[in-house]
Amino acid sequence: MIKKCLFPAAGYGTRFLPATKAIPKEMLPILTKPLMQYGVEEAYEAGIGTMAIVTGRGKRAIEDHFDVSYELEHQIRGGAKEVLLDEIRSLISRCTFSYTRQVEMKGLGHAILTGETLIGHEPFAVILADDLCDNEGDEGGVLSQMVALYERYGCSIVAIEEVSKEETNKYGIIAGDEIEPGVFRISHMVEKPDPKEAPSNLAIIGRYILTPDIFDILRETKPGKGGEIQITDALLTQAQNSKVLGVRFKGKRFDCGSVEGFVKATNYFYQKQASSDEVR
Ligand code: UTP
Repeated sequence: MIKKCLFPAAGYGTRFLPATKAIPKEMLPILTKPLMQYGVEEAYEAGIGTMAIVTGRGKRAIEDHFDVSYELEHQIRGGAKEVLLDEIRSLISRCTFSYTRQVEMKGLGHAILTGETLIGHEPFAVILADDLCDNEGDEGGVLSQMVALYERYGCSIVAIEEVSKEETNKYGIIAGDEIEPGVFRISHMVEKPDPKEAPSNLAIIGRYILTPDIFDILRETKPGKGGEIQITDALLTQAQNSKVLGVRFKGKRFDCGSVEGFVKATNYFYQKQASSDEVR
């Protein structure tokens, strides 16, 4: 039922300057794979084949990554290194990629509205590639868990995670009733509240399923925190008009938009790879 995934990837990534001066934040690698590719793999695992990417100036490397590089392919054909391109080649052959540009960076809500032209009038997923998620046990990826929930409820869903009280000012924070274990019907949400004003410690992370009425709401949403059009504000309107759920997902998440989270993710994936190499 969810066929398209939107990737807002137009932000400046200022926390990673100077690395992000000429390289998109979404192309920074964890081991040998760029953040963006992890995101596309997660969407594909959730049964989604159409990737809709909102880019901006200086983000050409994303388009080039999801395309064939003839010179490179020619150079390594038949050699031992050819296998290193297997994963990305197979993604390119199984998925379609379309792009649009956000001309002015007016916030995540605005980036999602910019993606309307690629999504049309259907429910869709959103992945912020700088929030890197990994499966735990047999649960499947975060987006797979959310797609399964969407099939039962048919409304917008956000992924949530408990954070420490001091960190509420980095996230959208929700409040609501737990209607089944780990699933909350949202009654309130605030973007980056001061710990004293936070309605809970349940933070929205970079995974969403949105119903298409969100576009009309976003068009009417005034700039909020930081002067940006916030998806949190639009989702609050949607929660008041109809229904929005928050799901406490199973799995690991790393905030790779921050240096600390990026280093933690690198260590985690390195250890994981080292232990699977040992098993082999
Ligand atoms: P962030 O605030 O984490 O990204 O936005 P940023 O602005 O690139 O990073 P810093 O804070 O300057 O280091 C969350 C997501 O929303 C996208 C970003 O690309 C990121 O994936 N975004 C944000 C847009 O696409 N457009 C915007 O106007 C703002």
